[in-house]
Amino acid sequence: MTSPTYTAATAPDRDGLAAAVFTGLTPGTRYWWAVELDGTLETGHLGTFRTLPAPGEPTSFSFAAASCADTNSNADSFADAAARTGPTGEPALFTVHLGDMHYQDIGTDDPAWALAAWLNALGQPNQAALYAAAPLAYTWSDHDFGGSNVAADSPAAAAVQAVYRRLVPSHPLPGDGAGIYQSWQVGRVLFVMTDGRSYASPITAPDTATKTKLGAAQKAWLKDQFAAPGVGLVIWCHEDAWHNASTFTGDDTWSAYATERAELAAYIQANDVPLLYVHGDVHALSHDDGSHVPGRFPLISVSPWDQTTFIGNGALTSGFYPDPVSTTVKSQQYGWFDVLDNGTQIVVRALGIADGQVVLRTEMSWGITRHLGWGIPCDRAEVRCPMTPPSASSRAFWLTSAPTSATTSPRSTPAWTRSSCGTCTPPTGPPSNSGWRGWNARPRPRAQPRAPRSTAASAPCSPRSWPGSCSPCC
Ligand SMILES: [Fe+2]
Repeated sequence: MTSPTYTAATAPDRDGLAAAVFTGLTPGTRYWWAVELDGTLETGHLGTFRTLPAPGEPTSFSFAAASCADTNSNADSFADAAARTGPTGEPALFTVHLGDMHYQDIGTDDPAWALAAWLNALGQPNQAALYAAAPLAYTWSDHDFGGSNVAADSPAAAAVQAVYRRLVPSHPLPGDGAGIYQSWQVGRVLFVMTDGRSYASPITAPDTATKTKLGAAQKAWLKDQFAAPGVGLVIWCHEDAWHNASTFTGDDTWSAYATERAELAAYIQANDVPLLYVHGDVHALSHDDGSHVPGRFPLISVSPWDQTTFIGNGALTSGFYPDPVSTTVKSQQYGWFDVLDNGTQIVVRALGIADGQVVLRTEMSWGITRHLGWGIPCDRAEVRCPMTPPSASSRAFWLTSAPTSATTSPRSTPAWTRSSCGTCTPPTGPPSNSGWRGWNARPRPRAQPRAPRSTAASAPCSPRSWPGSCSPCC
């Protein structure tokens, strides 16, 4: 390493753990790091990461996600994810681990055991290589929270919650010191990662309005995240399945919390949340386009890193991989996501990878954000140029006055207001909520419009390729 920047020296704690915080980094920049121990550079532990781009900037990137690795797994799936690159030529910007990092089921309030269980996993060469090659965003499931199908009353809860904070780097944890729910934004994509155990009612409790998987505070936080301004897509990373049609013996997924699931589904639909749900726990690769899903949003199942396989009892549009599943043979699988944002449309190309081969491929896009009406930064003003011809699946329009019910009909043809190509002309102020609609959108429930992201009256735009008659266009 040449011209390194050193952090302050840190003394390892009683367990040999030390943390360093790098500050003053440049957004969207790759860095490499290493540890110097008593004056000697540990060259065998070189890590790298790319800092996240500034929130709101259209950005293309890739990430990996999966759950469920057998205790002390050194599966090739980790090495494959570490070596893979996306269409930008870059490796994963980060890896999302959706729980069951081990299956030790410690079942007791023993911080030393909790720490040892995680250190054993992190010490496996292929896992260590992946977590050194890209930042890790990690939430637990049941087995690494203490035992099969445990909830908030897991005897190991206090131990794992405390050790997680000592061992695992994370985005800021907004909770009460127990849960580990967190969020982070990459360009116009907001990631929310929930904690399905720390506040969960026992799975055998009656499924009433008081039964919860998230707890009141986390659920309120999640709803706020869903309503965040300036976001074109929310990717909700949760450990377990949303879609199961009915409960089954030992079911700890959302179908055992169907009342709360219905509440969240109604909120998501009422607020037109542009959502992709990514989960593990089901030990299989799968995808649904929303047609089998409460709330009608797409979801992806990405599992297992290294485990035997099962699929629960739900039906999904893509089916499951492998098929048939096996209770004796382990599969090594993960999900790979290419997120492509051209400033107008966000495309997610999701791959299911098994034994290094792509076995599932699906592509989704979100073209009209629900936040258009709250200020359009210069580089997104192209939405005011009509596409030719307008299509039912991607279309936006600009109204200069509050629409009547007729003009907001999805089947009506509102008058277009064209912006001149080559310049952006943001609205002079935040239009009223009722003055804007995306395709098939419903009235906004919030009374107060959000502040515009750009207040410039006119600004130059970078020419960009645009289909139809308005190219190049800002
Ligand atoms: Fe699992």
